[in-house]
Amino acid sequence: MRTSSPIVIAHRGACGYLPEHTLAAKALAHGMGANFIEQDVVLSKDGVAIVLHDIHLDSTTDVAQRFPGRARADGRFYAIDFDLQEIRQLRVHERTHRKTGEAVFPERFPVQPNLFQVPTLAEEVDLIAGLDRSRGCVTGLYIELKSPNWHRSEGQDLSTAILGVLEKTGYWNRPDQVFLQCFDDQTLRHLREQLKAPLPMIQLIGENSWGEDSAVDYDYLRTPAGLSYVASYAQGIGPFLPHIYLGKTASGSARLSNLVPLAQARGLLVHPYTLRRDELPAGITSFTELLDIVIGQAGIDGLFTDFPDMVIDYLRRRNSL
Ligand code: G3P
Ligand code: CA
Repeated sequence: MRTSSPIVIAHRGACGYLPEHTLAAKALAHGMGANFIEQDVVLSKDGVAIVLHDIHLDSTTDVAQRFPGRARADGRFYAIDFDLQEIRQLRVHERTHRKTGEAVFPERFPVQPNLFQVPTLAEEVDLIAGLDRSRGCVTGLYIELKSPNWHRSEGQDLSTAILGVLEKTGYWNRPDQVFLQCFDDQTLRHLREQLKAPLPMIQLIGENSWGEDSAVDYDYLRTPAGLSYVASYAQGIGPFLPHIYLGKTASGSARLSNLVPLAQARGLLVHPYTLRRDELPAGITSFTELLDIVIGQAGIDGLFTDFPDMVIDYLRRRNSL
């Protein structure tokens, strides 16, 4: 359902301020007033849904120090090789480049100290529900199924694990409060058609060159025919920001693709990722300028941001004009 003002989705929580996907980052996003808080979900060895962006543990935790010798032949530490009791021993830190140990976003929370843990999806849902109650508000979940085909090749089923948590926590039947998102079209169709999930689905759109775990052709999905196909099973798209903002013209105005009107004409919501004040697209000089383009000119329906407070503040100012 379209809303009068774009929805603000706290990308990995308020991860511009605290390490991604920690309960602290989620509580901060809640306090800032995000409409939805994002969960990227993978499975542990014992099939528990945990909130973690990567199928690997080594870019955001101290797994290499705590469990030396548990990497696979490629040198990576996979979450699916550790049971929950082991994952609970890990400490989460700000995202780093694995080879150098340098922070990916150097101006953000320090890489040390390691104050945080990897939450389960159930724990995070309890946190958000508890804060909704104590703060008297309603905040949505925006759950991404990460690498579902890879999980299947490892003998694990991500979809049923996530739906099981939603059933247990009472969110299964709350279509206004939960989005399910995935880069894989077949997974969304399976959720809709076989598992009968009564929740809105968002088809994420990336670049074919990223090698996402899907056979989908993202260039095709952005065409009129591709968007009509998406509209047959999903309620919206989550495109990469450069699919909408193409750069500046010679005179300095923003060049926009026709993706937003093409999608909205088919009844699809458009929620692009990811708006960051510390990673502005080429030609953009401030976060406010970026918001003017994406919200004011492109007319999107919501957005993923690492800085939910800044977007909420922008929308308040804009709505009071
Ligand atoms: O899910 C939307 C956006 O978060 C996709 O990118 O890599 O941050 O999960 P990623
Ligand atoms: Ca995501």
